[in-house]
Amino acid sequence: MADDRSLIGLAGKVALVTGGGAGIGLATARLLAEAGMTLVVAEIDPARCADARTALGGGHLVIEADVRTAAEVERVFAAIRDTHGRLDVVVNNVGDFLRMHAPFEETTEEQWDQLYRVLLHHVFLVTRAAIPLLRAGGGGSLINMSTIEAFRGIPNLAVYAAFKAALTGFTQSLAVELGKDNIRVNAIAPETTNSAQVVATPRVPEANRDYIGRWFPIGRFGEGEDSAGAVLYLASDRLSGWVTGTTIHVDGGALAAGAWARLPDDKGWTHLPIIVADGYTPPATD
Ligand SMILES: NC(=O)c1ccc[n+]([C@@H]2O[C@H](COP(=O)([O-])OP(=O)(O)OC[C@H]3O[C@@H](n4cnc5c(N)ncnc54)[C@H](O)[C@@H]3O)[C@@H](O)[C@H]2O)c1
Repeated sequence: MADDRSLIGLAGKVALVTGGGAGIGLATARLLAEAGMTLVVAEIDPARCADARTALGGGHLVIEADVRTAAEVERVFAAIRDTHGRLDVVVNNVGDFLRMHAPFEETTEEQWDQLYRVLLHHVFLVTRAAIPLLRAGGGGSLINMSTIEAFRGIPNLAVYAAFKAALTGFTQSLAVELGKDNIRVNAIAPETTNSAQVVATPRVPEANRDYIGRWFPIGRFGEGEDSAGAVLYLASDRLSGWVTGTTIHVDGGALAAGAWARLPDDKGWTHLPIIVADGYTPPATD
């Protein structure tokens, strides 16, 4: 009988994960390594590089690099070419709302530029560098980390949502362009997931705790492993070889629920807003 690794068919293949030193990226790097892949992690933060080295163990490459700049991306790809000579899977995971949580009219052009570079520009740089290597190996899988906010609005994060929505167009069009090369292009759209930048569960005050069960049909926030599982599926030609140009919503059912929320103790459903403030801030008292 086939073991789990041969079933998934990723053993011995090489994956690049950007921002693989924390959060969803680290969980993804760990799972792909568990599936037998050789990992290359590009991570800007030296302490998180050390975390990734410890988590992955020997045989993997962790490179301190800022993937927003072409020269740094080229340095990462030179290392991949020199060390492995091949690349099979790319996870464009880096993304940050850079604490820019503000009404749109108060945001600045400088902030838009910063968000563009971290959310979209680096995806273009990494993807452009990766295509020749993927093609040379007979194909591969490109996976872009989007967000549920690319598919459903969120107040005070309109520019973040705009660039993430742009990833949908990039994913779809590139999938059409690269299908002939057996390169699949897909995206993952998580809802609120505990990570380094999003510390969700501990921030919810005691008085708001039952909101979590109402927030998501599967009554909890996401964890890095939830998105990592979707990456594993999309990485594997064996599992998802005919899946391209699409997005998997890893959201505990939140998008499907729309405004429908379960009342506490399973006493029915509501279509009324029930989250006060942002869900994290204690409700105002008189
Ligand atoms: N956590 C969530 O709730 C959530 C929800 C939806 C989408 N996402 C998306 O998932 C992805 C990962 O998010 P996360 O919450 O795990 O983030 P995180 O901040 O916890 O981890 C991202 C990692 O990327 C690294 N990094 C940042 N800028 C970099 C750069 N320029 N070059 C190299 N490395 C860099 C950081 O140091 C960090 O280790 C992002 O694209 C984010 O937009 C996250």
